[in-house]
Amino acid sequence: MKKLIAGNWKMNGGINDAKTLIANIINTLSTDDSQIQTRSDILICPPFLHIPAVRHSLHSNPHIALGAQDCSIYEDGAHTGDISAAMLKDSGCSHVIIGHSERRQNNSETDDLIARKARLALDKDLMPIICVGETAQERESGEAENIVTRQIRACVPELGTFEEITIAYEPVWAIGTGKIPTPDDVTTMHSLIRRLLKEKTARPERVRILYGGSLKPDNAKILLALPNVDGGLIGGASLKAKDFLAIAAAA
Ligand code: PGA
Repeated sequence: MKKLIAGNWKMNGGINDAKTLIANIINTLSTDDSQIQTRSDILICPPFLHIPAVRHSLHSNPHIALGAQDCSIYEDGAHTGDISAAMLKDSGCSHVIIGHSERRQNNSETDDLIARKARLALDKDLMPIICVGETAQERESGEAENIVTRQIRACVPELGTFEEITIAYEPVWAIGTGKIPTPDDVTTMHSLIRRLLKEKTARPERVRILYGGSLKPDNAKILLALPNVDGGLIGGASLKAKDFLAIAAAA
């Protein structure tokens, strides 16, 4: 399985910043001789409003996939301010991040709501990237594995034979902090997730399990080479083309 290197741009920059960043990524890839694109899949998740501009730029590069950072739990109708999974599909997205810890914390998203969004995304033919991960307090109290077990059981829908999802294990305390878990802790968590996925799909080996949280060019080689780590979800470092592609090259 090729690794997936996904950039989560979060709520950063204006439209011109988005255009410059995607142009830099495309230009760097076009002169790259390490063949990043043939060795890994690349996904960019801009803010909703920047999706059309990034899509326009990507016409010159069909190898980079486009995703969103969230979608509505509703299919359509009177839901002021929401963006539906169908609208994302219509705007050229193939992926959508669901249940990022910033949405769990800042927008009170629950496991149940996340499961509903993931099901809706699947029904609209979008690949959900379902985020799980423990807080610092949960890790310190020895609860990390129990928390992630609960999240996988509650947030991942039952999958039909041909349905596929992606999981991102992102310890909350590692996001944007420069702190990362030990390689042993990442290995333990990713193999736990792989085992739990057997409860949801007949093909758990087909699910990519990404690592996310302070993934940088200098730690990517170690983290992305661990067993059951099938790529990365990258926040801060995805805002610089050079750093983002250095992580992709390390994969
Ligand atoms: P970070 O964010 O790389 O800035 O730690 C990761 C994420 O939130 O997906």
